[in-house]
This record gives sequence, structure tokens and C-alpha cells, in this order.
Amino acid sequence: MTSFTFQANTLTCSGIPLDDIGRQCGTPAFIYSEESLQRNISVLKSAFGERGIHVSYAMKANSNLAILGMMRAAGFGVDIVSGGELYLVDAAGFTGKDISFAGMGKTREEMVAALKAEVAQFNVESAFELEMLNQAAEKLGKKPDVLLRLNPDIDAQTHPKITTGLRENKFGMPAEEVFKHFLSREKYPHLNFVGIHCHIGSQILKPLPFIDLVDYLVKYTARLEAAGARITKVDLGGGFGVDYETPFRDILETTPFLGEIADYAAEKLGHYQLYIQPGRVLVANTAVLLTRVIGLKHNDLKTFVVVDGAMTDMLRPSLYGAYHALIPTTRDSGKMTVDVVGPVCETGDYFAHNREISTVEQNDFIALGSAGAYGYVMASTYNARPLAPEILIQSEGSIKIIRQRQTYADFLALNS
Ligand SMILES: Cc1ncc(COP(=O)(O)O)c(C=O)c1O
Repeated sequence: MTSFTFQANTLTCSGIPLDDIGRQCGTPAFIYSEESLQRNISVLKSAFGERGIHVSYAMKANSNLAILGMMRAAGFGVDIVSGGELYLVDAAGFTGKDISFAGMGKTREEMVAALKAEVAQFNVESAFELEMLNQAAEKLGKKPDVLLRLNPDIDAQTHPKITTGLRENKFGMPAEEVFKHFLSREKYPHLNFVGIHCHIGSQILKPLPFIDLVDYLVKYTARLEAAGARITKVDLGGGFGVDYETPFRDILETTPFLGEIADYAAEKLGHYQLYIQPGRVLVANTAVLLTRVIGLKHNDLKTFVVVDGAMTDMLRPSLYGAYHALIPTTRDSGKMTVDVVGPVCETGDYFAHNREISTVEQNDFIALGSAGAYGYVMASTYNARPLAPEILIQSEGSIKIIRQRQTYADFLALNS
């Protein structure tokens, strides 16, 4: 359970009615529950941390500074994929030793910044990155730890747009290529080849792909070591899924196998320093996107509920056809089957098609569930729509704005 609950037919977060927050802070707005985030942190800590597996939060899922601060306070490291993320984690108080730098197209400038920050490791995805990083490290007189990202060709059995560990995907390198780089590592004297990184996909709801990954890596690392390579680190990536249909479900119910995977990895690969990089599972169920109904319109086929939130706030339905629960904040016994759409001038701007929801009227609020991951971070200002604010409901029930709503004046700031 998260701390989003219905009390007397009204959706609340840590006891505060979401309607009150909507009226006070305006909509659309992301509403986060600190209690839920702390719960998820403690689940991950006991599943992995207590088995000696380092948790590196994949901040691409949510990079709000307050959220990053809580991850840091929990003792988690952080996984970044860009110079912008490096800048943000510095602002959030992480230091180089906490940071792993992934991403499949790091620029020279980003590499230099990360070398100067002395990040703990670079997860490298191609021969061109090895060349560029080696040169940058030489110039700065550094010798960073490098893990090579291997694409194990394992089917994570997830959505095609978020599977990353198949041969046809752009991520990582084939096993033979990784092997070849390890064996010719003297070509890169300014890099310290220390391990293997894999990330097979996202929104994975079964243990088997992870078990397969561990089995694969057991054999692969043994082969590498037999050929003379020395490995100290293995990074298993992220990808643990959440229940988008039941957005306030506890993550231990959705992914009860976290401990099982951790045990298996620790048993089979525990002679290495082990890392995981979860993003979604830590933050998705900690937030809703609160929207208000602008109006209803009908034609001979459909009823459209037009809300003030849009694809610009939550892109996932438009981008992936992803399902997000839509929860009117006041429970009504009546039901209606509707399209819930935003005001943006795109047919693809929708949250649901032909969805049955509790009856709503103009000015009612609707909460879109599982909005804590890949929500705000994917937002845009298309149609000159200001970015929504992020609001944290603190554990004791107080409201804290953790990111202001963008203003129209902000749109002018970068024009010249
Ligand atoms: C390299 C890497 N690590 C970790 C993650 C986090 O995945 P998730 O949010 O599914 O846990 C991603 C997501 O795309 C990724 O590309």
C-alpha cells in the first residue's frame, strides 16, 4: 500500500484530500508521497542493500532534487546518463564515488566533466566511446574504472519500446565484441577495465529474465577470467516493473521476487562487487498527476473528458500506448465510458481511450496513477504549456512545493 487512500469517498495522500491540494496549488500538478517513497527505499534496501548489493538509483526516472536528496540520505548511489544529470546530482550533494555514468552516446564534454568529478565508473557501450574516453582520460591524467555494457540478447518479455537487451536494440555491445575489448585492453592504457554491465529492459514483472541474466553472467565472467581478464564489478542494471493497473499497490506485492533475485545474484556472483540500477520501481507509485476536468464533449460515438493535464505532462500513453490508471478523486457510484484527453493540438494527446471511470463533471479532479517515474522528466512545453509543479506531501502531512510551476515569463528567458 502507498499512502494514497480513499477516505469517505475522497482520495487523500497522507490524510490530505487531493482536491484541497488541487484547489490550493492549481493543476496539472505532480503530487508525491514522502511516506511511499520511504517505503520503497526501505524495500530496496532490505532486498539488495542487506545482501551486499549496491543500489544505484537510475535518476532518469525522476530527477527532482528533493527526490535525489532522499535517495542520497538512504545511502544509495546514483546512475546518470548525461552531463545534465551529472550537474543535478552534484547539486543534490552526491560525490563522484556515488556516481556511475551510463548512456550510449556520451559526448567528449560530458566525459571530461565526469572525469573531473571523479565518477566511480563509466559504463561504456561502444568502441568509439572507449577511444574517446581513453583520450580524455589521458589529457586529464586520470584512469577511470570502466565496465563494458554487454547486450546479452535476453528477452525481458516487456514492451518493445522499453526492451534493451536484444541484439536488435541500440544498447550495449555483442558478447564477442566485449570479449575482444577486454582482451585488447592494453590499447586503452588510460582506462581500468573492471567489469561488465547489462540492462535488459524496463517494466519487467517476472524474475526469470533476471535469473537468466545472472546465469549468463556467471558463464561469461568465467570465460573472460579464464582468458586472463580480471573482473571486480558486475552491474545488473535496473528494470523492475510496477503495477500500472493498481497504482497504489505496494512494490513488494508487484515484484515479490526482489529478494529472490538478490539471493541468487549474491550466491552466484557474490565474489564481485554487485550493483543494480533501479529507477521506476523506486518512484512510480509514489506520485499521481492531478488534473482538473475542463469540460465534457460528446459526439455520436464518444464522450471526451477534456482535462488540463496533457501529453506534455505525462507522455507515456502517447509515446508507448502505456496504461495509466485514471482515478476521479471523488468516488461516485455512477460509471461512464470515455476518452480522457488533454487540450494539446495532437490526436495523440490522450490518457485513455474507451475507459470506464467513475462519473465526473466539469471542474472535478482526476488523478493519473503511477506518475512518479518517467513523468515530469519527459515533460515538454509544447503548445507553450508551462511545466507542472511538483508537490511533496511530507510524512507528517504537510505540503511542500519541491518544484514551482513554470511561468509564461520563463518561456522568454532563453530567447534572444
Ligand atoms: C542503463 C539503465 N539502467 C537503469 C535503467 C532504469 O530502468 P528502470 O527504471 O526500469 O528500473 C535504465 C532505463 O532505461 C537504463 O537504461
